[in-house]
Amino acid sequence: MELDLWLGGRLVARTISRDRGAKVRIVYEDRIAAEVGSEVPLLSCSLPTPGPSAPAMARAFLEGLLPEGRALEAAAAQVRGVQLRNGAPDAASDTVLLLAAYGRECAGAVVAMPAGSVEPSRGRYEEIDETGLAGLVTALPEHPLGADLSRDIRTSLAGAQPKLLLARVGDRWCEPVDGAPSTHILKPTGAWPHSARNEALVMTLAREIGLTECPVWVEDVRGVGVLVAERYDRRIRADGTIDRLHQEDMCQAVGLRPVDKYHISRPSKRMAKLLRQFTDAPGAELVRLFRQLAFRAIVGDEDGHGKNYSLLLNDGSVTLAPLYDCLCTLIYPELSGHMATPVGTQVTLAKVDRTALIDEARAMGLPEAEAVAALDELGSSLRTAIGALGPDLLVGWPSDQVIGLIRTRLDRLETGLPLGAPGGDGPRSRRTLDQATWQRNP
Ligand SMILES: Nc1ncnc2c1ncn2[C@@H]1O[C@H](COP(=O)(O)OP(=O)(O)OP(=O)(O)O)[C@@H](O)[C@H]1O
Ligand SMILES: [Mg+2]
Repeated sequence: MELDLWLGGRLVARTISRDRGAKVRIVYEDRIAAEVGSEVPLLSCSLPTPGPSAPAMARAFLEGLLPEGRALEAAAAQVRGVQLRNGAPDAASDTVLLLAAYGRECAGAVVAMPAGSVEPSRGRYEEIDETGLAGLVTALPEHPLGADLSRDIRTSLAGAQPKLLLARVGDRWCEPVDGAPSTHILKPTGAWPHSARNEALVMTLAREIGLTECPVWVEDVRGVGVLVAERYDRRIRADGTIDRLHQEDMCQAVGLRPVDKYHISRPSKRMAKLLRQFTDAPGAELVRLFRQLAFRAIVGDEDGHGKNYSLLLNDGSVTLAPLYDCLCTLIYPELSGHMATPVGTQVTLAKVDRTALIDEARAMGLPEAEAVAALDELGSSLRTAIGALGPDLLVGWPSDQVIGLIRTRLDRLETGLPLGAPGGDGPRSRRTLDQATWQRNP
């Protein structure tokens, strides 16, 4: 089995397997390479034109399109011949088989099809009512992302938390069938109490201070709070046509497999290097990356791993994607409080402080004065955004715990103290959010 890789309605590349599927490379179509030139990061910064790519880069990129954890297990159980080992596809050929089945609607603009397939159709939408939506949420353990091969719903998206991909057409929810693009990601509250409300609150703050433009809200689906996030990698034209914008996550961009997402290292290393190498205005993009990581530290989100930062790729022109998947994990005492990437010399949300953030910025290549200005501006705009939060985001759950925590951390940031209040953090485990979620959902 081989894959054709389409981007924005064009067949741009193919996979070439060797050694019985142990090694897969990606090679761009000759006419695409001739058109755009060489060394252009069309699909990924780790896959410049014309290829063939190194097998490790192709594997990391393709595997990075797939779900993780339980969702991957459930998806793999539906495809004959696929083997998983330690929660990941056993060989590159297993990833290819999975994408041949599910790769019609992924993160970004890439569409993966079995080699030789006709051009992907624009697909169609099937409207669902409240009962249908509740059914899809309940069925997520067996049908992660709402995928259903028997109905030609072939959706794939990274991440370990249960999620549903739907399209909002007018004011109705629709299932994206036969390769139709989705427009929203729906995440039900599951293992972590009030997680949807927590993420909605934190992401609304992020939106208010310019870290994203995408609205989020919480829908009540038969008593379950479901976070709804508009996709920043979809654009709706005036005539209603939905376009896909290409993106990849930082692990794909550097050639790290999803199982290694907690090993991407300090933002000042590989992520900053990528921005310097591939973006047209590295100074501005580095400030945006710094604002994202400082925001995570301030709101108490430990999970800023390499798949929670992404890049937008537009015909080879690269920018940092907006912030996503950010909530206050510090309110869950079962979690470690260890940040997925160290900041300066600090590794915990309790100890990270102003000095660590500025050290990190300096190591990223930002002049200290610029980092200080960015941090001060972030702090003051965050305070204003907290004051402006509406009751819909605050009522009905212990939001005051999250707000209180963020306010305290902001105060301590200003005074130069470690952001965690002394004695406020009891002994915590060393498990990552993924490991802790897995244990909560045996
Ligand atoms: N608003 C968005 N627009 C476009 N793509 C998004 C958006 N939010 C998330 N994504 C993409 O979907 C993937 C999965 O989403 P998300 O990170 O929220 O899931 P998760 O299961 O909570 O992840 P994790 O495993 O980090 O807990 C992201 O890695 C990113 O590629
Ligand atoms: Mg994530």
